[in-house]
Amino acid sequence: MGSNLGDSRRLLRDALDPSERPAYEAMAAAAHRLSRGEGRSGITSHGGGEGRVALIDRVDAFRKELEAVRAAGRTVGFVPTMGYLHEGHASLIRRAAAECDVVAVSVFVNPLQFAPTEDLAAYPRDLERDVALAEASGAHLVLSPSTEEMYPEPMATTVSVATVSEGLEGAQRPTHFAGVATVVAKLLALAGPCRAYFGEKDFQQLAVIRRLVRDLSFPVDVVGCATVREPDGLAMSSRNIYLTGDERVAATVLYRALTDGVRLVEAGERDPAVVRDHMHAVIESEPRAELDYAEVVRAGDLSLPDTLSGELRLLVAARFGRARLIDNRGVTI
Ligand code: PAF
Repeated sequence: MGSNLGDSRRLLRDALDPSERPAYEAMAAAAHRLSRGEGRSGITSHGGGEGRVALIDRVDAFRKELEAVRAAGRTVGFVPTMGYLHEGHASLIRRAAAECDVVAVSVFVNPLQFAPTEDLAAYPRDLERDVALAEASGAHLVLSPSTEEMYPEPMATTVSVATVSEGLEGAQRPTHFAGVATVVAKLLALAGPCRAYFGEKDFQQLAVIRRLVRDLSFPVDVVGCATVREPDGLAMSSRNIYLTGDERVAATVLYRALTDGVRLVEAGERDPAVVRDHMHAVIESEPRAELDYAEVVRAGDLSLPDTLSGELRLLVAARFGRARLIDNRGVTI
């Protein structure tokens, strides 16, 4: 296998224009080091196949690996996550692998984005499974730092993004988006120039990150990716694991409420209150759902329109037992 790989590398190199060969050689050497995790502190290799993924627990090692990739003329795709990966994450990693030469995934349950009353300690974790799923989806590196590695001393700096952070989730979880923006700013600073992939399932988070990247001029292209759903419409989420059997069935009410709301708009409804009240009624008709909000906003800045027009986003949030779930759908008129 090793010599076949060597032969194919030689063939590939020989097929290149001579001016492209040094960059190719540098990339091949970097890829080889990545797959072996040789002699680098904070890096081990995982997985069984040719595409063994490098598991990195030191932020400096992560930064250096991605710098080496770019120095070899290759592009970086970055998928930040809190782990417990599912098909939604896998779709982000696959898209990054289709669009970029090297794909890095971070797995870090960020304490800053959990309020004291929230589920930080209970948040599901399974690093072995995450590494296997990341590798199978096309990732080359997984950064999994400890909390001490990410935050060696209490953070004196907080990044907060006004306006888009304030309503919806921000109103329910007042410290949440500052925690997200702070960790994402740090992760993007470590990753360097790249394309960064985030799911539209967390639509407000995506808006916050887009604004953060624009305001602070990060050299990053933010790519929003469509929500991946179960066959009955439930949006994939690491928190779905908290649902009991009955709650799992009940949770499909979120998608039904959004779909009804979209249909109303498509049928000509232009009063946001009518659409909002209808989604409220659908969610409240489910006894296991405890509604947090249902809202229609302008997709660009998440502001509340007086009359519905242009690109809109319908967003809902509700609790089902231990699980607090959010979802959204877009409609343009
Ligand atoms: O969406 C998530 O998983 C997290 O909020 C993120 C963006 C990785 C920051 O911790």
